Amino acid sequence: MAKRTVVVMPGDGIGKVVLPEALRVLEAAGFEANWVEADIGWEFWVTEGNPLPQRTIDLLAEHKAALFGAITSKPKDAAARELAPELVDAGHVYYSPIVGLRQHFDLDVSIRPCRTFPGNPLNFIRRGPLGEVEEPRVDTVIFRQNTEGLYGGVEWTDPPDQVWEALDTHPKFAAFRSVPRKDLAVSTRIFTRAKCRRICEEAFSYAAAHEYSNVTVCEKPNVIRETSGMMLAEARDVQQGYPGIQLWDTNIDAQMMWLTKNPEDYGVIVAGNMFGDIISDGFAGLVGGLGFAASANIGREVGVFEPTHGSAPKYEALDPSIVNPIAMVLSAVLMLDWLGETEVANRVRDAVAAVVANGAVRTYDMLKLRGGPQAVSQGAVPTSKMTDAIIQALER
Ligand code: NAI
Ligand code: MG
Repeated sequence: MAKRTVVVMPGDGIGKVVLPEALRVLEAAGFEANWVEADIGWEFWVTEGNPLPQRTIDLLAEHKAALFGAITSKPKDAAARELAPELVDAGHVYYSPIVGLRQHFDLDVSIRPCRTFPGNPLNFIRRGPLGEVEEPRVDTVIFRQNTEGLYGGVEWTDPPDQVWEALDTHPKFAAFRSVPRKDLAVSTRIFTRAKCRRICEEAFSYAAAHEYSNVTVCEKPNVIRETSGMMLAEARDVQQGYPGIQLWDTNIDAQMMWLTKNPEDYGVIVAGNMFGDIISDGFAGLVGGLGFAASANIGREVGVFEPTHGSAPKYEALDPSIVNPIAMVLSAVLMLDWLGETEVANRVRDAVAAVVANGAVRTYDMLKLRGGPQAVSQGAVPTSKMTDAIIQALER
């Protein structure tokens, strides 16, 4: 069989550190591919006025699968100030290239698994009824609608006439009518039935394939009746096809409380864009945080796999690097799952689990140390040593 091609987009800062580490692990696990590096991030904003060059989009359109590290984003004004002199005043506006990728390729399904690795000192613990310490085993996978809702970008401050007039057709708008328009900000939360349907279908089909007994739709339909209501209705309908899987529904606020009370009860969770973002960070915090949080962005044809963390500029220049490569490695594992390379994926997951359980090799975040060059003399391993340990565990 011809070798697969995978687009690799290290991006900025520690993205450039962790992505090559993940490739080392994949290769050691026997996953062979042509890695084609593609340009994305701050450097290309500064030199070309575009952090997501067309040539990168073309590569992704051709090869479909991509690994992404992280990018640096800055507020609009700061971004404009750093443009190369010849690009200033040429009408360039900075947009996040990862959001751009999600929209361009309609990567509407985000999957964020949050699983406890036994032995991780960052695991959440709680007090039991008799004062004993409990460490619940979290095994939750969040399905987040990735393109619509509050992140859809349809918003205004000082809305134009047509928008104002349209809002004014709603009886509840009476409460806002006396507010000066320049003091009125509107961000819309638009859901479509097709996208609600798809995220619910993906969640249930994953739950069935991985033998989860429940899917929780986490929204707030009692208050946000239309959009959350549509998601709940679709979840109920999709559940009809899965009689063996229970559908629970929770409100986002209560879910955040149950997160620490009984996280072990939740299997698959499905939510809109904003709430999915919130819950997935909440669950990630129970299982190690940014050094462990992996994510998949999946469309009909294209999949982009990335750690949740950003470019951590303060650690960018550290030599040796100290950041934890596990979030990137686990993101690459999600790509293997998506490509159907289940056996390799499971071996890499097991290798990570073995290293964490063994405990001899820990990055600074796992030891709750302050990040910095001193962390290594305090017992933390540099990034590459963590990768080496995962590779050794693969070989055992
Ligand atoms: P960040 O995720 O880059 O870093 C926050 C802190 O988390 C770091 O200072 C570090 O203490 C810790 N951390 C992050 N990754 C780690 C790892 N692999 N191992 C150990 N510790 C780790 O978020 P921050 O500082 O808010 O943003 C920095 C830049 O990254 C900004 O320009 C931001 O816009 C961008 N960003 C990009 C994202 C993406 O590429 N998808 C996501 C989040 C932020
Ligand atoms: Mg990221």
